[in-house]
Amino acid sequence: MSEVQRRVEAFCDRFGLRIPILEAPMSGACPPELAAAVARAGGMGASGVLLDGPEKIAEWVERFRADHPGALQLNTWIPDPADDVQERIDAASGFLSRYGTPGEQPTPLPDFALQCDAMLAAGPTVVSSIMGLFDADYVRRLHDHDVAWFACATTLDDALAAQEAGADAIVAQGMEAGGHRGSFDPDDAERTVVGLFALLPRFADHLRVPIVAAGGIADGRSVAAALALGASAVQVGTALLRTPEAGIDKSWSSALDGLAPEATVPTRAYSGRLGRAAPTTYVTAWTDPDAPLPAPYPYQRQLVTRWRRGETQGIDKVNNWAGQSAALATEEPAGAIVERMWREARELLA
Ligand SMILES: Cc1cc2nc3c(=O)[nH]c(=O)nc-3n(C[C@H](O)[C@H](O)[C@H](O)COP(=O)(O)O)c2cc1C
Repeated sequence: MSEVQRRVEAFCDRFGLRIPILEAPMSGACPPELAAAVARAGGMGASGVLLDGPEKIAEWVERFRADHPGALQLNTWIPDPADDVQERIDAASGFLSRYGTPGEQPTPLPDFALQCDAMLAAGPTVVSSIMGLFDADYVRRLHDHDVAWFACATTLDDALAAQEAGADAIVAQGMEAGGHRGSFDPDDAERTVVGLFALLPRFADHLRVPIVAAGGIADGRSVAAALALGASAVQVGTALLRTPEAGIDKSWSSALDGLAPEATVPTRAYSGRLGRAAPTTYVTAWTDPDAPLPAPYPYQRQLVTRWRRGETQGIDKVNNWAGQSAALATEEPAGAIVERMWREARELLA
């Protein structure tokens, strides 16, 4: 048996998988049907619970488990420190006024501690974090309940800190990834831009825990490459967004259709945290020389929600997140996609 096979088998045995493919947690874009389809194909389903309170988390998990699909990851964001940012909020609000009048103030994000309790109570295979680390007490509680902790990291320093804090696996997120970059320090995101090809060998050379590769993985070639470079499994986001199970807004799905890697853009225009998206007119407007900086997370996110609720025109209805392999995303059912990816990868690795 090859070293790659041994690594992959050990990971699959430990986390109850038949294939080493995880659905990426995607807050707002991972309904239970998508997670169940991936889990039923032998991979791991996921939910990004960032916007969900305890009841919604429990209800989502119940729907996922309705016909016993298999392994599950629940994920949330470690909150950013609240700074004094009124001037930035005012400048961003002024810019958004060009789209019309804002609507109601959104409710604040659900309480992080209650969210953590609800994820633990749901008893998933994995609880995962992005943007930082869980505290020692929560990590102990996860482990006491036999729930593994996967931590997303974009640099070796962040990955080592996560391993030191007790993470059972590190999700290596390359700069190709769709959606938010998981830099622990929000201000680092534009500076520490490492591609998955450089990130995986670096993590493999310095970490003792398994590595899950994320970013631009959309077919068997990239799965095989990631495993050969040191990953034990892969995590797939954008490539599942156009599936019938994901059910994303039509305008977003069309924006992904044939989108070239170089056309995707890192932007803070939707949430204040850096994320990779399609270059919509709204996103591009924030790159005008006279545009202000978007407000920091979570304030920009709240402003955008408020303006979407108002009498406005020209603001994207939803966040058009897009990874660099968006053009490979197809409209096939999710189970068929992950099964094909694994079949192709195995042929390449044989
Ligand atoms: C629509 C969307 C939403 C995302 N939301 C989250 C999230 O809530 N938590 C998280 O850890 N990662 C989130 N991510 C990042 C993914 O977990 C993963 O790192 C990324 O999708 C991998 O790159 P790919 O899109 O090229 O496959 C999101 C990605 C997308 C595309």
